[in-house]
Amino acid sequence: MNYTYLDCLSALGVGGAHPGGLQLTKELLSKEKIDETKLILDAGCGTGQTSAYIAERYQCQVTALDSNKIMLDKARKRFSSIQLPIKVKEGSTEKLPFEERMFDMILSESVICFTDICLTISEFKRVLKQNGVLIATEMVLEKSLAEKDLKTIVDFYGVTQLLTEKEWHNLLQKAGFTQVNVEKFKLQLAKNEVQNATDFSLSENIDENIFEILEQHEYFTTKYKDILGFRVFRCCI
Ligand SMILES: C[S@@+](CC[C@H](N)C(=O)[O-])C[C@H]1O[C@@H](n2cnc3c(N)ncnc32)[C@H](O)[C@@H]1O
Repeated sequence: MNYTYLDCLSALGVGGAHPGGLQLTKELLSKEKIDETKLILDAGCGTGQTSAYIAERYQCQVTALDSNKIMLDKARKRFSSIQLPIKVKEGSTEKLPFEERMFDMILSESVICFTDICLTISEFKRVLKQNGVLIATEMVLEKSLAEKDLKTIVDFYGVTQLLTEKEWHNLLQKAGFTQVNVEKFKLQLAKNEVQNATDFSLSENIDENIFEILEQHEYFTTKYKDILGFRVFRCCI
């Protein structure tokens, strides 16, 4: 069987599967005004590391959504093991199963690039309240690249498109986000502490091909280290 990069993440149950991990998530959230009255959507929650952190730290209502059943099972296990009342929803960011203007904040960490980008962005805008905030951490193309290499990356990661910072900015503005701030972060490995570490929730009987994907990911990360970067987009309506 041919596995995708996302199959690999779900089989290994990687928590904090975005650049900067939980450490960056904490830093970003610490700049926001969050209290227990807020409704927050973790869109593409994976195994729910970020959702659990928000619910514990801010005591607010968190909804964790993902389209992958394996990821969601692992997220449910995490939440029930620490008795967090997080709402778990299976669904796609491209057609969110929520009414308009429901959330004060949407966090989307390394998710939009795996989806139809325009559909997802317009759905995020639809379900955000007036004055709501979208914080999206996304892969960006730092330099132009030969078509062949672009295709290799797109095919391997299963992303729909590889966009530059400017292209992301334009799409977010076009979708109706009036204020789009972009921040570039350096990954600070030395500051990574145990409580911010990537965690794993392994499935039973993991196929050895899954580990090949992991190895290939390491290889691409090194090979394209100057080509693939990431940005945090903070967007308001
Ligand atoms: C790289 S992982 C990031 C997971 C999590 N945000 C984190 O940082 O650990 C991407 C996640 O997006 C989810 N995903 C991909 N396409 C999706 C879609 N259309 N709707 C909802 N979730 C999606 C995947 O299932 C996966 O859990």
